[in-house]
Amino acid sequence: MLKSVRYGGDYNPEQWPEEVWREDVGLMREAGVNLVSLGVFNWGIIEPAPGEYDFGGLDRVMDLLHEAGIGVGLGTPTSSPPAWLRKAHPEIRLVDREGRALAGGTRHGVCPSSAAYNEACAAVVEQLAVRYGAHPAVELWHVHNEYGWAGVECYCPASSAAFGRWLEAKYTDIDHLNEAWGTAFWGLVYRSFDQIEAPAAAPPGVNPALQLDWKRFSNEAHLANFRLQREIIARHSAAPVTTNFMIPNCEGMDYWRWAREVDLVANNHYLIAERPENHIELSMSADLARAVAAGPWMVMEHSTSAVNWQSRNLAKAPGEMRRNSLAHLARGADGLMFFQWRASRVGAEKFHSAMVPHGGTDTAVWREVVRLGGDLERLAPVTGSGVDAEVAILWDWESWWALELEWRPSIDLGYRERIEAYYESLWRQHVTVDFAHPEADLSGYRLVVAPASYLLTSEAAKNLRGYVDDGGSLLVSYFSGIVDEHDTVHPGAHPGALRETLGLWVEEFHPLPEGGRVALDLPAGPARGRIWSERIRLDGAEAVGSFTDGPDAGHPAVARHRLGAGTAWYTATALDDATGLRELLGGVLDHAGVPRPAGVPEGLELVRRAEHCFLINHTDQDITVPGIRGANALDDTVYDGDIPVAAGEVVIVRIIEETPPPGSGAARGPGVHGR
Ligand code: GAL
Repeated sequence: MLKSVRYGGDYNPEQWPEEVWREDVGLMREAGVNLVSLGVFNWGIIEPAPGEYDFGGLDRVMDLLHEAGIGVGLGTPTSSPPAWLRKAHPEIRLVDREGRALAGGTRHGVCPSSAAYNEACAAVVEQLAVRYGAHPAVELWHVHNEYGWAGVECYCPASSAAFGRWLEAKYTDIDHLNEAWGTAFWGLVYRSFDQIEAPAAAPPGVNPALQLDWKRFSNEAHLANFRLQREIIARHSAAPVTTNFMIPNCEGMDYWRWAREVDLVANNHYLIAERPENHIELSMSADLARAVAAGPWMVMEHSTSAVNWQSRNLAKAPGEMRRNSLAHLARGADGLMFFQWRASRVGAEKFHSAMVPHGGTDTAVWREVVRLGGDLERLAPVTGSGVDAEVAILWDWESWWALELEWRPSIDLGYRERIEAYYESLWRQHVTVDFAHPEADLSGYRLVVAPASYLLTSEAAKNLRGYVDDGGSLLVSYFSGIVDEHDTVHPGAHPGALRETLGLWVEEFHPLPEGGRVALDLPAGPARGRIWSERIRLDGAEAVGSFTDGPDAGHPAVARHRLGAGTAWYTATALDDATGLRELLGGVLDHAGVPRPAGVPEGLELVRRAEHCFLINHTDQDITVPGIRGANALDDTVYDGDIPVAAGEVVIVRIIEETPPPGSGAARGPGVHGR
């Protein structure tokens, strides 16, 4: 879909006099920019009063960009409604859980179910689509901006009423809803759909099934606004339509569902600057974006250096932006865009980095921007190629929602906590992973890991069982397979959905006190667990490790079940990379036949994208990577076995031969399919 790697950023020319536009276009060409996101927040400018439009500035800038050969991702400005709309229709304001209607003076904070808001969106999008639908500069439509940014859930009366209608369409009969939601508990029975309230601030213990459907509805409410806009655009333009996701940092949006609605997945990712080794979280974001996309995807926003919205906005170190960008590229991105092109002088984001910083072009940031642009031109052959992965981690937003509702066995049970522990350990072992929905086809993976599948539908459980039966290796972490899609416990002993697959059952949970630790013995030696312990009763599985202290001392802590042609593994406590997880995973990877490169140090990120191998050195030491014959994709240097990667640098090699294969790649994974 994209011709070469797309490179550029958010362009907000309305903040600048027109002579700066000409300078901008010249600099864009110097930097190799070929796409900009335009008009993302300009509603108040192009529609100064209801139904009155002024496209003069936008016309001129579109033509200027087009003459310079720069494509446009044309924004629809609906995430920043004009002041006149807020004044005329105060009911469009998003109402938070505490019942506060969010004020204007900023962007976002609008109710996706508001009729007045949706009508105003439709009107301005129609104007844009008619005017620019056939404009030769338009390569892409960038609908709205970060749906859900100011809060996914709106608790206003219009949302509450829409929720009732949505439930009626889903359950048709109120008794079906009562059954599904288990309303016999506390006698919380409904006699009609209009008796149901949105779960705003309430005494504790709001029906979890209601809360889950509320989250599904809220996700759908935003999707409905997206579809409304997409359909208007499609009537006037053949260009692909997208909106920017916030993977993995938006809990409220089920991006498996969103990915089916966009022509191309676009993701925004910002590092938390003070988080140690934050490049691992970046890799996870990219792998998950690739997974939901199951096809082309791009980074719509990341930053050249500091952001402005964290407590301490640390600048990126020299070379860090390059490593970040090329890590996204390695993991499948076909576009690398930044927020934003030119640093603002005005407004809330004036301390945010940009491609053109306040200091202008005699700056390290600008030099890195120009260097990256040049490299991306040479990397055009990478565009559209796939990433090999033989391991999948299960990811399901619904399980995230359910696991973190109130009144679980421990507040230390965190969805991302476990996913990231497994992801990080695999990353350190240079294993590239896909993410997969639990109901997706898993047959192409040698190993599937389920670190936090608390909510697991019967369908998903069947899928996992079939995967193991057919020869797959499955590794499940504690507190998985516990409830169905309504947060109803699967029948019988825990983990009801996986009991037979795992060949064991759990007699009692023993969550640990704050900071508590348990010791266990694994085949590779002693290990330490956090958060969780539980009494496992084997029923077909064999113990491969046992607790040596704590509430379950002497009982199994890790179990293995041979089933059909495959094997299912289970861990009953939170192991981390340094406390036993690496060894455990190492054994499971060996058993599953997942190759890892030999002689590659931990801080060297090694990712295979089709015939290209990306070597990203996150350390301050020069590293030599053995076992690859190939040519440097940027300068054609030929390597006959050993590849030097200087401290902090990135080397991209077109592979001629590998011995042994670096990274995975023996068999191509099937990619990941959403529902
Ligand atoms: C994103 C947003 C951009 C910009 C950026 C700053 O969330 O989409 O418009 O505000 O953050 O980091």
